[in-house]
Formats: sequence, structure tokens, C-alpha cells
Amino acid sequence: MDLTGFSSNYSDIIYLDSAATSLTPLDVVRAGSDYYNKYNANPHRGMYAISERASYEWESARATLENYINTNANTPNGRMAFTSGATHSLNHIAWNWARHTHSKGIEAVVHIGPSEHHSNIVNWQNQGVRIRAANDWAELITQLKASRGGLCSIAHLANTTGAEAPLETLWETCESQGHFLFLDCCQTPAHHYFPADLCHGLGFSGHKMYGPNGIGGLWLRDTDQYNTKNLFCQPMMAGGGVVESVSIEETVLKQFPYSAEAGTGNVPGAVGLAKAVHFLNKHTIPVLQSHCKSLVSECIHRLSDICTVYISDKDATSIFPFTVNGVHSSDVATILGAQNICVRSGKLCAEPYVDSISNSGSIVRASFGIYNTVKDVEVFADAVRTIHRKHS
Ligand SMILES: Cc1ncc(COP(=O)(O)O)c(C=O)c1O
Repeated sequence: MDLTGFSSNYSDIIYLDSAATSLTPLDVVRAGSDYYNKYNANPHRGMYAISERASYEWESARATLENYINTNANTPNGRMAFTSGATHSLNHIAWNWARHTHSKGIEAVVHIGPSEHHSNIVNWQNQGVRIRAANDWAELITQLKASRGGLCSIAHLANTTGAEAPLETLWETCESQGHFLFLDCCQTPAHHYFPADLCHGLGFSGHKMYGPNGIGGLWLRDTDQYNTKNLFCQPMMAGGGVVESVSIEETVLKQFPYSAEAGTGNVPGAVGLAKAVHFLNKHTIPVLQSHCKSLVSECIHRLSDICTVYISDKDATSIFPFTVNGVHSSDVATILGAQNICVRSGKLCAEPYVDSISNSGSIVRASFGIYNTVKDVEVFADAVRTIHRKHS
């Protein structure tokens, strides 16, 4: 591992689980601890200096994120609410969709892709929204062409394989059919720009983009246009912070993004997330992307003869999804873990998809970050070969 800019406490492990949570740069950690050390107060509440500093940092962090998302996608009016992460953002969208369809007396339906994370399945079930899950992208596009004015929610990059959704086609189809296209961008920002030009809204988590835990975003396009009518701007959670005025009879809500931020915000998380954006800009997305992709290619090259690999070299992003022929995935992950090689195994929070691609209903996932090196891949591949030799 090349831990330049990260804690040296991880020097005796090979961390190959960045798709679950990336390690956190020291600058990001410092930004969070600066909050506690220097301006530990409630934002948007106090009339004194450290509260005003907390408000300033919170809104500056939002501006950094919005600027980053909007600029790369040329969507100048997009706004972003801080959420606790992608799961929160996806629940917000599901709650709003259920509320809207219920109020209109129409059936609540969502179209989802073939390889969704549980966060883009269970959120809909929890609101009584009927899920139309496509088995592949062609089927999804056919479904979308056969209806109008609905909702499509998909992962930009699959958390199981890293495979990218065909966004251009989906976007064109959704635009022409009047569907709202929401992207679960959890796996995106560590090595891709947010594709905000190809969706109406997106959600993400800080802890998968070199940012802190417990913070993320919900971005909606062109909320100036949508605020009066955007059905996705209503607060799933209500309380302090989302209101202009309150009486016992009636409350006047703030506009998005404030309408989606009930309660005291996670200021250390937000400032850390803004620092994570600086980190991404410093390394640059093209470099991060080609670095991770080359490590996956190296794995494919070294291990395809003894493993079933669930991604092609052409489609690889940052994830090497595999099973070792003749050895159960959980044994592989346990043996690797005992050697301080950290990978994930099992259903990967995508049970329907993993069940559909693997006979054992379980795969192993090695996923890469900026700190991984070719040497890490060598050690990992040698360890996998030993497992195959001894246990298959
Ligand atoms: C594609 C995808 N969606 C949603 C999630 C949920 O993210 P979080 O637990 O940060 O809310 C994950 C996390 O693994 C993911 O990879």
C-alpha cells in the first residue's frame, strides 16, 4: 500500500475493500477534528462567532460539492442537500414518490436495473412502491419506452462488479418518455465524475469517496424550476431547520435543499466531505480511474485461469468480482483475512443479482483505491493461487 497522505496504521494490511468504505485521507480527518477543536457549535442557530463559523463552513462545504457536481456536468442550477449517505437519499426519493403517487391516486411503481444494491430495493418495498426489476439493460429500456411519467432508479456503477449503466441511452429514453431518472452514485465519485448531465437526481455517500462516514448528498437538477412543483423536494423527515415559520395549525417549509435537512447537520462530516473533493481534484479523476482500472486488469490477467471472473477487462472499473473454482467464497475471504488481505464476500448487499450470477449465491469482491499498488495485487494473487492449490 502507498499510504502517502493516509494513516500509517494501515501499513501492515492490504486493503482491498474500498467499494465498501475507502480509507480516509489525513486532510479529511483534520478538517473534521478542526470543527471540534475550533468552532464546535450548532450551525444556523447561534448569533455568536463560533456558530457563525459553523454555518459558514457548512454552506461553504455545500458550495464546494454543488460546484463539483454541477461544473463537471454543466448543470448550473443543481442543488444538493446533505444526507447521511446514499441509503438516506434513496429513502428520501422513495418516500416522496410514494407520497406523490398516493396523493394522485395512481399506482406507485419504480423501474430499477438488473444489479441493484439493497438500498435501491428495500427503500421502495418499505414505502409500498411496486418494483419492476429488469433482468438486463435492454429489458429496462423496453419497459421505460412502454410507459410515461414514471420513475427509474438505478446504480450508475454496480457495487458487485463495477459495471457501468448505459446512461446515455437511459437518459434519452427517460427524457423522451417523461420519466424521472435517479442515479445511485455510491460507487461513482472515487474514480468517476458525477454524471449529473445524464440524470434528474442522484445520491451518494462520503465514506466511499475518501470522505467521512455518516455524510453524503442528495442532488436534484434545476431546483429553481422544480421547487414549486418538484415532487422530490418534500421533507421525509420534519423538524427544526426545514421551516420558514411554524404555528400549531400550519408550517411553511423552506425550499430544497434546506427542506431535506431536518435537525442539526453533521458539520464535521460536511467539511470533511468538502476536503474529500479537494483530494479528488488533487489526484484528478482520470488518474484515479486509470489507476483502479489497471489494478483490476492485473487481477484478471493473473487469476482468470483458476477463478470465475464476473467482469470483462473492457468493462472493468475498480472492482474485481470473482469466485475461486472449487472453493467457497466465504472460505476464500476468511483465509485472505487471516493474512491481513481485506476483501468482501457473500451477497454484497445485492442478493438478487449475486444469486443470479453465481451458483453458490456468493462471490468475492476485491476493490481498489488510490493507495493500492501493483505489489498489493501480486501478494493478493499469490495468496489466491495458494488457496486454490490447497483447498480446491
Ligand atoms: C451502489 C450502492 N448503493 C447504496 C449503498 C449504500 O450506501 P450507504 O451504506 O453508504 O448508505 C452502497 C454501499 O455499499 C452501494 O454500493
